[in-house]
Amino acid sequence: MTQREALRIHNHRLHYSDVDLMDLAQRYGTPLHVFDEEQIQETAARFKNAFSHPEVATEVLYASKAFLTRAMVRTIDAAGLSLDVVSGGELHTAISVGFDPNRIYLHGNNKTLDELIMALNYGVKRIVVDNYGELKTLQFIATELHRPVEILLRMNPGIEAHTHDYIKTADNDSKFGISIYDEQIFEVVERLTEVPYINLRGFHYHIGSQIFEGKSYLKALTTMMEFVGKVKKRTGFITKELNLGGGFGVYYAEGDDPMDLEVVLPEIISAAIEQSRALGMTTPKLLIEPGRSLVADAGLTLYKVGYVKETFGGKKYLFVDGGMNENPRYALYGALYEARLVNRADEPAETTYAVAGKLCESGDILIPETDLPRCQQGDYLAVLGTGAYTYSMASNYNRMTRPAVIFLKEGKAQLVVKRETYDDLIRNDL
Ligand code: LLP
Repeated sequence: MTQREALRIHNHRLHYSDVDLMDLAQRYGTPLHVFDEEQIQETAARFKNAFSHPEVATEVLYASKAFLTRAMVRTIDAAGLSLDVVSGGELHTAISVGFDPNRIYLHGNNKTLDELIMALNYGVKRIVVDNYGELKTLQFIATELHRPVEILLRMNPGIEAHTHDYIKTADNDSKFGISIYDEQIFEVVERLTEVPYINLRGFHYHIGSQIFEGKSYLKALTTMMEFVGKVKKRTGFITKELNLGGGFGVYYAEGDDPMDLEVVLPEIISAAIEQSRALGMTTPKLLIEPGRSLVADAGLTLYKVGYVKETFGGKKYLFVDGGMNENPRYALYGALYEARLVNRADEPAETTYAVAGKLCESGDILIPETDLPRCQQGDYLAVLGTGAYTYSMASNYNRMTRPAVIFLKEGKAQLVVKRETYDDLIRNDL
């Protein structure tokens, strides 16, 4: 069920998965992140089912950068997904609740020595190596620690997907990965087959985020399979694993049209089978790592409306008690959201507002324009689809405290992250 379908009005108030949002806002304070845990589980199951095939090994990893807390790790664990982490902090969070390291993949273009050692000591399943420098360092550490490590090499296929299309980037200047056109790669792959402690399993690539077109994935896959074929021909190395990255688009606002996972994912697998056959090799194990699509639509943010202001120029501002510190996505990317009034939820939307936060910056806007019932101080507002890249990108700018996080399950609310306090803000100040 989508978030819009799970939102209902009872007694003039907005409910999410049968929980009264006004009641939550008053009980736990605002801003408040509310997640429907069952929706996350449902989406995880959809990914697992659609990305499976009787003859091909597959694995779905959750790209935890989208939203990670200990409760979220437990949810992902229960859903049977693996985890993609990109820092010692994400790794620590996962391990702290007993997530099996053998289901953790470590990414990152500049992993520190400490992070690599930590990953090896925990025995993570794969390290996705970004560049030759990292490979050298990892080789050294693995040898010193006598710890064998299995790796994927992150490649840049020279394709970048945008919401509705992809482009072939001519300059290959992304900060991530090694270009598939880099001639040195063949020599490195060949040498790796002889290096002790390092076991190359295959390749990884990621072409972008908030992608709506399945053909972008198919184009990238074809390009990568050509590369896999070239590697086989030039070095004899058979790719055993191919990680296609994440990027599946979600609905935020009008015009967003997410692809049908049940159509696109099987198409990707079929294409991989066909192209592997043409290369005379077994289809490699296929992996994907969705982040946003697992959590964005399963989360919303509740705010209390403060002052409502009409400017001399006639623009109507609705000020809420959060802002770009807890959701920087409009400020950073011009990202759009839709909102609903939580109380008087059945009144018609008749006024156009800009929803702004309380931070000292003109760019502190959450939604540039949205139609709502006439609002007043003390109203509650829900901004929809905020589950991804909000809490995980939140800051303490203006010494704002980070919101609390609630998980909903079976009609009940559970506090899973406490609201930060003023004392939390000065805890590390000496
Ligand atoms: N794998 C890799 C290697 C990635 O770099 C990313 C996202 C993902 C998977 C997950 O992509 P997703 O399924 O979530 O699209 N802060 C931005 C998004 C940055 C995405 C970075 N990489 C935002 O708020 O839109």
